[in-house]
Amino acid sequence: MSLGHALLRQCGKPSGWLGRLNLWSMNRRHSKVTEWGLKHVSIQSCDTILDVGCGGGMTIARLAAVATEGKIYGVDYSEESVAASRRANQPLVDAGRVEILHASVSQLPFPDEMFDLVTAVETHYYWPDLTADLREALRVLKPGGTLVIIAEAYKGGKYDRLLQRLEELQRQGIMKYAHLTIGEHSELLSKAGYCDVRVFEEYDKGWLCVTGRKGS
Ligand SMILES: C[S@@+](CC[C@H](N)C(=O)[O-])C[C@H]1O[C@@H](n2cnc3c(N)ncnc32)[C@H](O)[C@@H]1O
Repeated sequence: MSLGHALLRQCGKPSGWLGRLNLWSMNRRHSKVTEWGLKHVSIQSCDTILDVGCGGGMTIARLAAVATEGKIYGVDYSEESVAASRRANQPLVDAGRVEILHASVSQLPFPDEMFDLVTAVETHYYWPDLTADLREALRVLKPGGTLVIIAEAYKGGKYDRLLQRLEELQRQGIMKYAHLTIGEHSELLSKAGYCDVRVFEEYDKGWLCVTGRKGS
């Protein structure tokens, strides 16, 4: 496998020193799109929130700064990401305000109806079975709770031509990557059982935010 392919795969499951470097860099690169995406959901101070595919832990820190009386959980199936997220949020972990677990989105280690909000930043395109995995996120949401997907990779967006290359790597079995249009995102959330599905796009920046609610 070429170095370029190895670097791309690192985004889907960071590991080793290259993974640590990538997680550090993603915390910075994803900051602006995350800030923008989170403006589309309402976060209360006492909310219980799950960040799926938490990577380097930047989103967890951001959520904890808003949900000051609540609790933030993070999960990631990369041990490197779990360790990085814990390091980045160590004082909050020690205080019991943040908990980060090693787990896949396909089998979340939480009871039904636990969370007010589930966030997924730059991660869903790597998930193994999008419909089933979105249903798993729906399972852990409270009735009336919200899922928010924030992404810079989608079909028809500003970086479409570049991202078609990743689609090609997916076809060759080199990496997992779902290249979906805005419409396909909407359909997917509806198919998985979400209601009030909304899509927000900032085309000039190449940003996408999709939200869906669990019915009461
Ligand atoms: C591109 S990184 C984004 C990390 C972070 N959310 C951010 O915005 O910087 C994708 C993350 O999703 C995680 N991930 C991918 N597939 C996953 C799965 N099936 N279950 C849990 N985590 C997953 C990866 O390990 C990685 O840490």
